[in-house]
Amino acid sequence: MTAAPSPARTPRPDIRPVAGSLGAEILGIDLARPLDAGTVAAIRAALLEHLVVFFRDQKLTPPQQLAFARAFGEPAEYPQLKGLPECPLITPVVKLEHERVNFGGVWHSDTTYLERPPMGSMLYAIEIPPCGGDTLFANQYLAYETLSEGLKRTLDGLVGVNTSTKAAASKTREDRMRAAGEELKVLVGEHPVVRTHPETGRKALFVNVGHTERFQGWSEAESRPLLEYLFAHQVLPEFTCRFRWAQGSLAFWDNRCTQHNPVNDYHGYRRVMHRVTLMGDVPR
Ligand code: SIN
Repeated sequence: MTAAPSPARTPRPDIRPVAGSLGAEILGIDLARPLDAGTVAAIRAALLEHLVVFFRDQKLTPPQQLAFARAFGEPAEYPQLKGLPECPLITPVVKLEHERVNFGGVWHSDTTYLERPPMGSMLYAIEIPPCGGDTLFANQYLAYETLSEGLKRTLDGLVGVNTSTKAAASKTREDRMRAAGEELKVLVGEHPVVRTHPETGRKALFVNVGHTERFQGWSEAESRPLLEYLFAHQVLPEFTCRFRWAQGSLAFWDNRCTQHNPVNDYHGYRRVMHRVTLMGDVPR
């Protein structure tokens, strides 16, 4: 009989910020092993402080990635695409050599058209192009905090209407959905434009160009100028970091206070990632 692997113990994880606004690499943890409570708490604290955390040189089977995700929340199925046949809670995020469009290739928070958008997602790199295919992340606390007091007061009372059908995002899923024979599900989520993070209590801007169509009670034409201002403001370079993937890298982002955008600059090469999404709460 083989003994079960003992929990990986990391008294003080080595956490190294990668940019001024968000993002940190966590070194020295083997995510394939069960993690002890102290390590899980340290990773969660790093996520809340840095908004997105990165791990390198991991070797994870789909069940191991899922076990790691379960230490932080309840994995949820992606609503638009089936997951891996052997592990349906893992969504393959793929761009093939002959394809031109990359999945999710626009600034967005994940599936904000759901009533309960995810608290976070974990993306694990299986196959990476020789260069390109980085992912950008943006800090939405800073996006809110740097607005004028007047605009903050206006936004504090507004609700955003988020849809799964907005072309900015839906066209980035077309190749994958066609390949899988899936139909786009029409989903609409109405959420405060400024949400309060349930764990940190900080306010974050919660609109995104991928899914937010208009303000509740406003027409699309009336909403457009203010939304366009916010879409440009919320991804200013000084709010962002950029992650260079390698095979075995894993990124874990807090979807409640960040946005991300995978850069589509690697035509002719294959990029294969495995994503797990964790259930979130109703934004308030
Ligand atoms: C996604 O939105 O989950 C895709 C991110 C990426 O491919 O880097």
